[in-house]
Order: sequence, then C-alpha cells, then structure tokens
Amino acid sequence: MDLEKMINEMTLEEKINLLVGIGRSGVGDTPRYKVEGAAGETRPIERLNIPRTVHADGPAGLRISPKRENDEKTYYATAFPIASMIASTWNKDIAFEVGKAMGNEAKEYGVDFLLAPALNIHRNLLCGRNFEYYSEDPFLSGEMAESFVRGVQSEGVGACVKHFVVNNQETNRRSINTKVSERALREIYLKGFEIAIKKAKPWTVMSAYNKLNGKYCSQSWWLLTEVLRNEWGFEGFVMSDWDAGDSAKEQIQAGNDLIMPGKSYQTDPSRKDEIEEIKEAVKRGEITEEIINERVRSILKILVKTPSFNNYSYSNAPDLDEHAKISYMAAIEGVVLLENKGALPFDKSTPVALFGTSQIETIKGGTGSGDTHPKYTVNILDAFEEKGINVDKQLSEFYRRKVKELRNTKYKVQEDIKPKLPENILEENFLEDLAERNEIAVIVFSRISGEGYDRKLEKGDFYLSDDERELLERVSKAFRLKRKKVIVLLNIGGPIEIASWRNLCDGILLIWQPGQEAGRVVADVCTGVINPSGKLPTTFPKGYTNIPSKEFPGVPKEDPREVIYEEDIYVGYRYYDTFGVEPLYEFGYGLSYTTFKYENLEVITKGNYVIVSFDVENTGDFAGKEVVQVYVRAPKGKIDKPFQELKAFSKTKLLQPGEREKVLLKISLRSLASFAIDKWILEKGNYEIRIGSSSRDIRLVGKIELEEKTFDVSGGVI
Ligand code: GLC
Repeated sequence: MDLEKMINEMTLEEKINLLVGIGRSGVGDTPRYKVEGAAGETRPIERLNIPRTVHADGPAGLRISPKRENDEKTYYATAFPIASMIASTWNKDIAFEVGKAMGNEAKEYGVDFLLAPALNIHRNLLCGRNFEYYSEDPFLSGEMAESFVRGVQSEGVGACVKHFVVNNQETNRRSINTKVSERALREIYLKGFEIAIKKAKPWTVMSAYNKLNGKYCSQSWWLLTEVLRNEWGFEGFVMSDWDAGDSAKEQIQAGNDLIMPGKSYQTDPSRKDEIEEIKEAVKRGEITEEIINERVRSILKILVKTPSFNNYSYSNAPDLDEHAKISYMAAIEGVVLLENKGALPFDKSTPVALFGTSQIETIKGGTGSGDTHPKYTVNILDAFEEKGINVDKQLSEFYRRKVKELRNTKYKVQEDIKPKLPENILEENFLEDLAERNEIAVIVFSRISGEGYDRKLEKGDFYLSDDERELLERVSKAFRLKRKKVIVLLNIGGPIEIASWRNLCDGILLIWQPGQEAGRVVADVCTGVINPSGKLPTTFPKGYTNIPSKEFPGVPKEDPREVIYEEDIYVGYRYYDTFGVEPLYEFGYGLSYTTFKYENLEVITKGNYVIVSFDVENTGDFAGKEVVQVYVRAPKGKIDKPFQELKAFSKTKLLQPGEREKVLLKISLRSLASFAIDKWILEKGNYEIRIGSSSRDIRLVGKIELEEKTFDVSGGVI
C-alpha cells in the first residue's frame, strides 16, 4: 500500500474528513453505526476505497448491543473480570489470553478498534473507574497492559491504551486541571503507558478528558508529540476521548490525530463543527497542509491494517463458549484470600447458609463505557447449587423470593438505576434455626461504581451500611455461639473499610467483579477445587484518613476546578512503606491454602540488567501457584526515593506439594533510575533486592553494588 500516493490523491476536504469521527450513531445526519452499540466510527472516503472503521469499548469485554431491531440474531459478547481483577492474577499470560479473546470478538463482530486497556493509576480509592484500571503501581499496570495489547492485536484489530494521562477521577473529569510534578508524571502516571507503548506498540492511544498542568491532554503538544512520539517513538494514532477538549484546531496542532466521536455539537450545541474549525485554521495558516498530512498519515497507516479496510468477512459468531472458559480461568486466578482462620476451603457436603442479596444479584463488573452485555451472569447461589454445594434450601428460597419482591415493590430498577437492597431482612428466630442446622455462614457484600461519578466516603459505599453491619453482627453472633464459621465474600470493584468488622468473621475472600462466570469462580475457590492465588494490585488501607492522596477530588470542594497531586511520587505502597503507615492489607498481599518456601537467592549484574534467581517450593499439602515479587530498595542518595519499588514479578506454574520451581528475573538498570529534570539518574551504591510474597512479606534479601549511570529522557530499555 503506497500511503504517500494515497495521501497525494486525497483532496484537502477528504484529508480533513478523516480527522473527525462520523458523529453519534443515528443522530442528525449521522448514519446508524454498522455495529449497533459501538462507540464510534471514522468517516469513509469511498472514492479511494477507504471504509468506515468501527470503535467499541471496553476493558472488561466488547461492549455492543446484544440485540438489534428486526434481527432475530443475538450479539452477546463475553463479560471478563474487571481490570483490577486481571491485575490481581499477576499473570501476564492471562492478560494476553483475555486480550486475545476480546480481540477475536471484536474482529468477528466487525469491530476494528477495541477501546482498551485503561491503565490510569489507582491514585485514590474513591475514583469511580478504578475497577477499569489495573493498579496503584505503574510497573504492574504497564506489564499487564502490554500483555493485553499484544493479545488484542494478535487478532488483527487495534488496541487503544487510555486515558492518556492522569485521568484519575470522575468528578469534573472533562474540565478538571490536574497539577502534578514532571517526576511524578514520568515515574508514576506515564510509566505504565511508556511500558505498554514501547513493548506492545498499540495501534492507538486515547488522550484523556482532563487538563494536565493547565492544558487539555488532547491539546498538549508536550504530551502527544514531544513525549509520546519524539521520546517514546509511538507510531500509531491518537484519538480524543469522546467530545474531549475545547478546540479542534489545538487538538490537530498538538498531535491528536482523530477527534471522536465527531460532531460534538450533537450533544453540546455550544461546540463548533470540528471540520469547519479545522478548515478555517488551515485557511488562516494556523494549521499547515503538512500538519494535516502528518495526521492523515498517522491514521491511514493504521486504517490499512484493519479488518474493515481488508474486507474481512466477519462471522458474527465468535466462540463464546471457549471465551467463557477464558473468563473463568482469568477470574479464578484473580480471587484474593484476605483472611482464613480455618474457614476455607470447605467441603461441598458441608451445610452452608448463604446470606446477602448479592448471592442473587452478583455484580459482574462496573457501569458506563466499561460495562458489558454477556449472554448470562452466573450468580453465586445458582452456582453453589449447580456445583452440588449443600446450601440451606429454606434460606436460599427466602432470598430468591425476597429479592424478587423487593425489586417488584419499593426497590424497582428505574432507568438502569438499581437501588441498593436492604440486608437486614431476616427474622431473629430464623437465624437461630439456621445457625443450628448449618456449619458455615457465607455472607456476600457487593459494591458497584462506574464512569461519570466517583465513589462516596459513606455507609453503603466505602463503609458497610447499617443494615449490612447488622446482618454481619447477627449472623456472627448466632453462628459463633455454636462455634460455627463465618465467611464474607467481597463482590466489589475497589477497597472498602474492613478493619472495623473483620474480627466478626473467620474468612474473607475478595472476589472483585469477576465477569459472567462469577458464581462458578466463587464456588470453586470456596470448595478448594482451585487454590486462590490472587494478590492485591492496590493497597487496602485501615481507614480513609491513612491514604496518601489527601487532595481528592480537588478544589473548590463544592465544584473542583483543580486537583494538585501533592503526594507526588508517594502513591500507594510507596507512601505507606516510606512514611511508616500500616495498611490493613498491603500491596501484593494474598493468602493461599498452601505455603511456599523461598531459597537460594542469587543476584548478579549483566550488562544493563540485574539478574535475580531463586527457588520457590510448595511446602504445604495443597497444590497452588505463587506470585513472586521483586522489590528494590535504593541506597540513600541525592534524590529522595520511596522505601522500595516493584521492579519484577512472575507467577509460578501450579506447584504440587513438595514441588519446586527456579525463578529467573531480570531488571533493567534504566528502570531503577529516578527522573531528574531532563534525564534518568541511577545513583551509585548498594541496592537491596527484596524477594517477597507481598510488599511486606519479604522472604529473601540480596545486595548489589551499582555504578552511577544516566539515561537520556527517551533512551534506554525501560
Ligand atoms: C467515554 C470514556 C472512554 C470510552 C469512550 C467511548 O467517555 O471515557 O473510556 O472509551 O467514551 O465510549
């Protein structure tokens, strides 16, 4: 394909048309999208056989309409676990397989670009979209995103790393000005994108809604041209977030190639027609034809790779059964065992009393563009019964009847808003009987959040609601009086307060929002079919006052216009470990049904790498996988550094009792350097290599002497 020839044949009008999306499906003069429920389309140039290409969300699965008018076919797509749960697997192969399955569904449903992964940092646990993001740590985020992108693009469709950058809250997301130091940007907020972009070469990047140090991200030359292209060598195209920014002219000048979805005046009449605005700017010489050609070139060289451009005859029938297995496999490795005082696993013949309305309304994922429309979601109660777990029939029928009744009366679902159901719905004597005839109580608490709004520091969100606490206290009292066990399942998208009530139970399983196979995943972990191997990708603090990001969501409080990242690089465990603040469950934490021993650590340098090797042995009597983590503690130098930082990790294969595995990991020296003004500096001295089963459960410590090295801002392997 001779790109230059094609560009030379295009009229200026045609070129500018390629820079702006077709508009919203079926609105005004915009035709309905080829794929119902997609998020956007690029414009065609029939004369040159350039077709419309299709963009669809999202990070937990392809989001398209499952049904279409006058069409008896269905268009379900698989609901995978949320990104935070994928990160909890610490298994890059899983991220790849999930990306590949999603990429395949995109291709087979006629979609060219999957608007995922989203890898903004968990700066504050109240961010409404954190479920869509991987972690508080940029290295874990970047490594998971890199694998996911390779998976998606292995199917010949484009991935889209988003939201570039510092889109770490939903409050006033389209206008908030995020003020952050360049060092925190480079080492925390850009780092994950740098890893994913340099290592996986995503076809597209989505610039974020918010401003960065005074400039809209979609209109920032420094971000989109200087850093992304000139330093990192990004070769794809940049699309805006939907209706982002306030100047099409500035977006094109800055390096935002494609303005999506186009015709923002369709939703905001005050907005100008982007095409007209660009034409005027060209006429006035504010945008040269060379710039236009550059933007067209960035888009075209990707479009020519798409299934639509290559007339791929998609089947509309991806293998959803196969992908359901991948969704299950991913979720099962993302479950995190937080507490276990002899409660888990339990035999499926054990009489179990299952409490909580979320056993029926189990949450598969979050809301907004990160939502999914699967054929089914298996709830916890159905799965327990399907798997032959000895669930108390009377109680289960009570919950099925009660949830139905509540939803048909006071707690009706209106316009997709599901009022939170009450949990204090059991009569006292009922509880006594249940505690008498069952050996275990399992209580499910759920939370949901999504795009467009942040979570609340209130009961029913970060805190248990009064009725949730009442249920837990009453069940705990009734069952523990009879020396029976109580287990809590957390069906949530991000941390909630646990410290004040965890002593009321004997086991806590973080089941996140596991996608469509939810109930089956929970059942198999509870009964020991699978040994939980997930580890926290984000800190669970003892309380909200302990967290580092004190300024959230910005000032003025009543209507934030600006948010200053005063904690700088001290995000997540970097803060807790450096300033001696005890978390409730630390970054990288997760229990297992077995135990592991670490030994024979060796640390050497080889060229521009530190090479670490050690053995891991399953010393328990339950087969299991271990996530091994390598943290590096730098010597005291001229540049202040966090106490330690994650620099390598891997997950063992399933180790049988007594089985060992040799782990070999390499760490680039560049990744140990600190950003200072205009370069990366690795200071001379003795570096501590800390091998852990979590960031605070360090099993082996080695040392290595490193010489000072500097790396230019763009160079060096990350
Ligand atoms: C939304 C989201 C973005 C999504 C896009 C298309 O506003 O911020 O993540 O991909 O619009 O739905």
